[in-house]
Amino acid sequence: MPLDSIAGANIVLGVTGGIAAYKAVELLRLLEKQNAVVTPVLTKGATRFVSELTFNALCSTKAYSSLIDYDEPILHTKLGKNADLILVAPATARLIGTYAAGIASDLLTSVLIATNAPVIVCPAMHTEMYENIAVQENLATLKRRKVIVVDSEYGRLAQNDVGKGRLASLDTILAVVKRTLMSHTSLSDKTVTVTAGGTKEYVDPVRFISNKSSGKQGIAIALEAYYRGATVNLVSTVVGIPDYLYGLENFNIYHVETAQQMSEKVLELSHFSNLVIMAAAVADFRVANESRLKIHRQEGTPKLELVPTVDIISELVTLRSKSVTKNSNSIFKHQKIIGFAAETDNLDERALAKLKNKNVDFLVANDVSKADIGFDSDLNAVSIYNRGGLIKHVAKKNKHEVAAEILDVYESEI
Ligand SMILES: Cc1cc2nc3c(=O)[nH]c(=O)nc-3n(C[C@H](O)[C@H](O)[C@H](O)COP(=O)(O)O)c2cc1C
Repeated sequence: MPLDSIAGANIVLGVTGGIAAYKAVELLRLLEKQNAVVTPVLTKGATRFVSELTFNALCSTKAYSSLIDYDEPILHTKLGKNADLILVAPATARLIGTYAAGIASDLLTSVLIATNAPVIVCPAMHTEMYENIAVQENLATLKRRKVIVVDSEYGRLAQNDVGKGRLASLDTILAVVKRTLMSHTSLSDKTVTVTAGGTKEYVDPVRFISNKSSGKQGIAIALEAYYRGATVNLVSTVVGIPDYLYGLENFNIYHVETAQQMSEKVLELSHFSNLVIMAAAVADFRVANESRLKIHRQEGTPKLELVPTVDIISELVTLRSKSVTKNSNSIFKHQKIIGFAAETDNLDERALAKLKNKNVDFLVANDVSKADIGFDSDLNAVSIYNRGGLIKHVAKKNKHEVAAEILDVYESEI
């Protein structure tokens, strides 16, 4: 059953005997921090790198490393049946091969074979081992059987070697864990395009006009949609997007700077999108007389001539209605568009006017006059409207929680 968060989820954390085994300790802490109920299962190989005691001290349940040395008569079936998810990180070449061959030779492989829960395997080994055809074929076999493989990264390995085979970042693994546990049916077959950040409208090659938007709310919405199982397109002006997001499958990142570039990318992606969320702070004006060369102080104070930028939401709405007229079976027929309004006064009135004027399906309004929420803050408070009026007021919360509230509205209204 899909979960709203990973809190309370029963996760078996399989740890095997590779150099990256020490990272599993931190992974356990991260999962426990999010209130998952984690049962570590270590192979004998793993206990040569990290001790069972360490995992026992940090987990809220109990760590195991043997099939038979406990009070529980049939431990492997109990763990397999109770699990919402089995996560093996790191997974050695030995574990991958044994699991692919269906051999239950220790507690971890027995749990893997005795479960119906989803399984995530995170390989970690030296490049030569990782690239070995046997390992690659075993991974392909597991994928074919719907095991989720979080691919290794390129980077520094043991003994200062560098290459492919390093355990994926813990943030990547955590994001895939959330997606696996939280995939909601209404978003899991959908493509969601989200914009984030303030656009940059250039004055000359080195200067631009922009705004205070950090893009945090848009990125949080994109991640929440990913957790819920959507294929995500993030169209963003933000320079500092967390690295691990680039490593996620089905999470596509497109960098743009200006309103014009954002418009072109979003319109292109809208042909494949069930939902478009315009969380970016798109400039209303651009500089008409943008200088091709850097402007110098000695040339005197420049006079900037401003002209309106492209209205992306209007373009989207127009494209949608034209496309539905031409082909009533197209993706546009059920496409929803969510607009954002950042206002400093008369929030309700301005939000409803914008919703009607722009003809979007939902409008999320935030009051940017308050210093502790909105622009550049980790917190936000929003009101969500549809054509009938206010649907929900979301009081001050973390932007990730606000993102969940926005997608809850979409999921309950479609
Ligand atoms: C120092 C050392 C580091 C190792 N690192 C890895 C590794 O990163 N990945 C891997 O697949 N095997 C690695 N091995 C080999 C495994 O430990 C070996 O295949 C072992 O049988 C795996 O046992 P397990 O899968 O039951 O944990 C390493 C071995 C040693 C001695």
